Amino acid sequence: MEQILLSKRFNKIDPYSIKDYLKSNGYQILREALKMKPKEILDEIKLSKIVGRGGAGFPTAIKMAGIKNETDKKYIVCNADEGEPGNFKDRHLMEKDPHSIIEGMIISAYTIGAYHGYIYIRGEYDTAIDIMKNAIEEARNNNFLGKNILQSEFSFNIEVRRGAGAYICGEEFALIESIEGKPGRTRVKPPYPSQAGIFNYPTLINNVETFCNLPIILDMGGKAYAELGSDYISGTKLISLSGNVKKPGLYEVPYGTTIKQVIEELGGGVDQGRNLKMIQLGGACGPIIPRNLIDMDIDNERFEIFDSKMGAGAIIVMDDRFDLFDIIHRNMKFFEHESCGKCMPCREGHRQVVTLIEKFVHYNATEDDLHSLKSLVDVIHETTLCGLGQTSIASILSTMTFFNEDYQRRIEDSKRKSETLW
Ligand SMILES: Cc1cc2nc3c(=O)[nH]c(=O)nc-3n(C[C@H](O)[C@H](O)[C@H](O)COP(=O)(O)O)c2cc1C
Repeated sequence: MEQILLSKRFNKIDPYSIKDYLKSNGYQILREALKMKPKEILDEIKLSKIVGRGGAGFPTAIKMAGIKNETDKKYIVCNADEGEPGNFKDRHLMEKDPHSIIEGMIISAYTIGAYHGYIYIRGEYDTAIDIMKNAIEEARNNNFLGKNILQSEFSFNIEVRRGAGAYICGEEFALIESIEGKPGRTRVKPPYPSQAGIFNYPTLINNVETFCNLPIILDMGGKAYAELGSDYISGTKLISLSGNVKKPGLYEVPYGTTIKQVIEELGGGVDQGRNLKMIQLGGACGPIIPRNLIDMDIDNERFEIFDSKMGAGAIIVMDDRFDLFDIIHRNMKFFEHESCGKCMPCREGHRQVVTLIEKFVHYNATEDDLHSLKSLVDVIHETTLCGLGQTSIASILSTMTFFNEDYQRRIEDSKRKSETLW
């Protein structure tokens, strides 16, 4: 069931050796790409139907076409902030196949006409930062970066920027502010980064995995790539599988694979012979679903029933020892802490949500609290400035639908507890 494209070099090459990369067809696609016209490359990417792998699932070719038409100086950013709990795929890509990211970034830069790129890496990823810096240096020494790349007219460079431990800096505008040397806070959209990004110049931001897919697309051709995966999304996906499974880890599967196949066939099923209670998808900002929904595919479109997305591809498995409200409480404490504070619904809203959820955790909840919680998460979802608040409440919205009896039972138990106390 696994389909190995992105992870084909994992543990097979030395990530500190450009020679190993070159021996495994590395930078060969770039050589070919530089002989093509930028529009021809964009056409292949369009044909591939690839969507971004950073969480939002936006069509990559549309974003690239938009910025290609801008006339200013342009930047490229590779988003390697990976702060979403439960996700570790970008770390693996950086630590095991760094040059494929660089190759994807150079191809993108050539396609849209960018002259400078940044790779913004999560601050805690010491090894990845070291490997990426070394790979960039090696690429520069071998004329894959710098002036007149491979004797072409095209020049491009990449710089590593280290994040400082803020989850919000994965959000594209907070990341841009951080690169500019400011505190990581989002901006009002529009204009979008492709119109006014770093220092107000057009900026293309893509996730690590998205960039890594570009050499693969050009290698096999956009049409062939579009046939991989499902009717909804093309290609393969790196899945970060964690929690109570026998074999947690990173797996690459085609879109169309079900959550159940990943958990049972790749992950070996629930650990210690326990029963599966719930799964959180995408990370802390994703929906929590019950075991009877795990037959669903990992395609974003199917997630419309949760008003959510598969996100960056995390599957967090929880067995019957876990308390639903304890999990939601941890999620919400995380978002309360990570809110940048710029907009009131996110800054104050998450504080209030934590207070209400604590009532459920401590068996003090009433029907009124449930109503307040519902209206509060709706306000956060509808009114926050950036995606943090638009997605942070997915665990509450989804569990209100799929675990409604747990909420009702907790309210009943709270009532009984208060009657006993009196
Ligand atoms: C709070 C927040 C955190 C995010 N963190 C990341 C991240 O760590 N990595 C990432 O690629 N995208 C992250 N995103 C999504 C980015 O804003 C952006 O959509 C993405 O980098 C675009 O790349 P793609 O089109 O290749 O998916 C985050 C979004 C939000 C709202």
